[in-house]
Amino acid sequence: MDFQSPIHDYYEDLAPRYDEDRFGNSYGRYIHQQELAIMNRLIPIEPTGPTLDLGCGTGRLLQWATHGLDYSPAMIEEAKKKYPQHILQAGSAWETPYEDHIFHTAYSFHLLMHLQPQEIEAVFQEAARIIGPGGRFIFDIPSKKRRGLVGYKADSWHAAQSLSLKEIKWMDTSIWKLQRYSGVLFLPVHRLPNSLRAPVRWVDNLLCRSPWREYASYMVVELIRL
Ligand SMILES: C[S@@+](CC[C@H](N)C(=O)[O-])C[C@H]1O[C@@H](n2cnc3c(N)ncnc32)[C@H](O)[C@@H]1O
Repeated sequence: MDFQSPIHDYYEDLAPRYDEDRFGNSYGRYIHQQELAIMNRLIPIEPTGPTLDLGCGTGRLLQWATHGLDYSPAMIEEAKKKYPQHILQAGSAWETPYEDHIFHTAYSFHLLMHLQPQEIEAVFQEAARIIGPGGRFIFDIPSKKRRGLVGYKADSWHAAQSLSLKEIKWMDTSIWKLQRYSGVLFLPVHRLPNSLRAPVRWVDNLLCRSPWREYASYMVVELIRL
């Protein structure tokens, strides 16, 4: 498998500006809030055992983890400033330095969408190795159904991949069970004037948990390691 130098170099360069560049605007802030709400529903804030943030970047979501791994040493350095007590290492998501079944929970946000299909497959295999039976793998991924509706065309590696619920359900059912999933960003709330955002956000949150949630922009999926 190729060393993903374009992705590595991209995040090495972006690291000091990543938080502001990605989450300092209305779109980023909105997605961040929805993801925080989902994480709060899924994971207790005090980790009950070793918990991994895979592709942790600058540590935006590290508060639920004990460990963080990222391809880019510069991103890890930013994360260490926020979480000096965490065990943070540079490394690849499909060849991690961890022992078998060491984690009860691992989660990964805004990572899989940048990888090639065979790399995504390799990350799931690695997650199955490091997460113990009964443990959980939580990840986000752009919704293929939504992208089909809006005619999305990828023009680079950046956020190029998406998955449908059907594809996620087809994943090796002797290893993973789909436990639940939520949507993120069903309506373009971030594009509305501030005065309209509060009521529309309420509707958006409802839609992101409704039977139509696969049509949100992203899905956050929880798999159980069998
Ligand atoms: C968009 S950032 C997401 C960071 C963080 N999870 C968040 O949600 O803010 C993607 C991160 O994935 C990392 N990454 C990309 N490919 C990786 C790989 N193969 N193994 C580990 N990390 C990788 C990048 O270095 C970057 O920090």
